[in-house]
Amino acid sequence: MSLALADLMEEGRRAVLRPLAQASTLPPAFYTSPEIFEAERERVFRRNWVSVGRASEIPNAGDRFRIDVAGEPLLIVRGKDGEVRALSAVCRHRWMLLGIGAESSATISCPYHKWTYALDGSLMAAPLMEQAEGFERGNCSLPSFGCEIWNGFIFVNLSGDAEPLARSLAPLAEEFAPWKMGEMEIVGRIEFDQPYNWKVLVDNFMEAYHHFAIHPETFEPNYPAAISWPEETNAPWAALRMPHKGNELADPLFKPLKGIPDRARRGFSVFNVYPSMLLAVLSDSVIWYRMEIDGVGHFKLTVYLLAHPASLDVPDAETLKTFLREGTSAVHMEDIVACEGVQMGLMSGSARAGRLSHLEGAIHEHQKWLLAELARA
Ligand code: FES
Ligand SMILES: [Fe+2]
Repeated sequence: MSLALADLMEEGRRAVLRPLAQASTLPPAFYTSPEIFEAERERVFRRNWVSVGRASEIPNAGDRFRIDVAGEPLLIVRGKDGEVRALSAVCRHRWMLLGIGAESSATISCPYHKWTYALDGSLMAAPLMEQAEGFERGNCSLPSFGCEIWNGFIFVNLSGDAEPLARSLAPLAEEFAPWKMGEMEIVGRIEFDQPYNWKVLVDNFMEAYHHFAIHPETFEPNYPAAISWPEETNAPWAALRMPHKGNELADPLFKPLKGIPDRARRGFSVFNVYPSMLLAVLSDSVIWYRMEIDGVGHFKLTVYLLAHPASLDVPDAETLKTFLREGTSAVHMEDIVACEGVQMGLMSGSARAGRLSHLEGAIHEHQKWLLAELARA
């Protein structure tokens, strides 16, 4: 760790490591410094499980999609054996990116010189390589990384030594069980190009303090800021509860599954499964914000709208899906105004760590976790 980074970490600890009532946010440099961003890639995003997609996006052998995690180009592919694998998307010949264009194919073929890999990453053919002495196909398999499916979400772990998800997320799995998320289908997907640091969105997602100012018509009338409350989880995720006004039953769009607890029908909850999996869990659907973080001040956001097939068994399901897509998009457009404004502010010389409200405990929890991860040897 460089001296500058060590100083920043110390500054961060002084701001954050206090009881919430005395705490501030991380200092602005944590959102803007390339050095912090590199440390996050190495120590946070390479070491932890990162959610990259839904298993239902690649239902058949040969289906695949490309995504980068911590700068590592990956090809997520379903094998002939039905297993989902996270393979390196870098050709073992001369580093061409694989998986561009094809959404499904029985093999993985490099567009540059047509080296061809099986779906498990082993090299099957390499044309015109007979004269390369000692060349062995067996030495040229695509590296594969840790890959697990949890509640239908595909997770990747680059370091290969993260604790199994089923163990670290067990209490969350118990809370989520009635939703049967593994069986949910994608009812909408919205993409945004986001020119701000990934933590600006995490912070925004994990507090409802801004509802009366940023969402005066969309959220505040039904989910008032003042009655939201961050839960103390002491776990690798943060949770924020947003009760419906007057603690009344909220009107669902679709049909909530049997077994969804009463509390979930009187509001909704949002979660950040660390480092950055943002989930809004409603009584009848789940909204997932997937971030593909490609720079200190930039990420690609895909908003997934998920619902169980049984919930969609309502008249006018298609109209309701459109309504959900448009509503979610409209709310996020409101949030973008805040997030982009915050990013501009963060870049200014006068920005400093800001004090937190009691409604912002989920931000505090995440930042404590982040500091500990960044300091982990
Ligand atoms: S770079 Fe892939 S075959 Fe040459
Ligand atoms: Fe918001």
